[in-house]
Amino acid sequence: MNLNDIIFQGRTGKFRKYLPTLSYYIIPLLLLGWITYGIFFNPINLYDSGKYTGQWSMYLLAFIMMVRPLAVLLPKLKIFFAFSSMRKELGILTFYLALLHSIGYFFAFDLTPADIFNPQDIIVYGFISLLIMLPLYLTSNTFSFRKLKYWKQLHRLAYIAVIFALIHVGKATGDIIWYILVAVFIALKIGEFYKLHTNQKTINPKSI
Ligand code: HEM
Repeated sequence: MNLNDIIFQGRTGKFRKYLPTLSYYIIPLLLLGWITYGIFFNPINLYDSGKYTGQWSMYLLAFIMMVRPLAVLLPKLKIFFAFSSMRKELGILTFYLALLHSIGYFFAFDLTPADIFNPQDIIVYGFISLLIMLPLYLTSNTFSFRKLKYWKQLHRLAYIAVIFALIHVGKATGDIIWYILVAVFIALKIGEFYKLHTNQKTINPKSI
């Protein structure tokens, strides 16, 4: 398998096969070990583990939200279709990363409930985002998908989760890249909407 197969044919080979194990067990457990080590033995370490888990959670969340519009807008790059079918596994990993980030930073910054619920502070935005992700995480399984009448509507809450997460991260880092990402995301959604509504015969949104 070469790069061409991956990008244009969307062949992800063994990565697809091992993704559930990696996302549900290996990566979260390794990171949990890192955070636990920081909490009990090396508190300084928590700044790193909290930072990287938070950053990767944000990157993944942004990627998950953008991959479907990208699959619609760039149908020749089948890699986006392939990643589109991995949103469940990536979403669960995003939740674990966000949870570990909040636990890590909770101890690193010696946070109290008053800090988390302070409307003047940035932390509350992250907390709301995590809170919204919780029911999405709990219902990211075939059983809930079959049983819940409003599963799709519930999972649209991911848009709200990403907005709160971006405000949290944008304010925490003051980095312009997060605001650019918001603009790119809005542009992609508009493009996706336009394409789906003008090419309804050629694109079946349910297939993505
Ligand atoms: C209960 C939930 C959360 C808590 C308690 C929390 C706590 C914090 C704290 C204390 C900071 C550092 C602020 C500063 O430097 O002044 C921070 C930064 C950050 N948070 Fe959160 N957060 C939460 C949720 C989230 C979520 C859901 C995400 C991503 C999806 C996230 C991603 C980040 C990132 C990327 C940073 C910046 C890290 C860096 O580059 O320094 N956080 N968070």
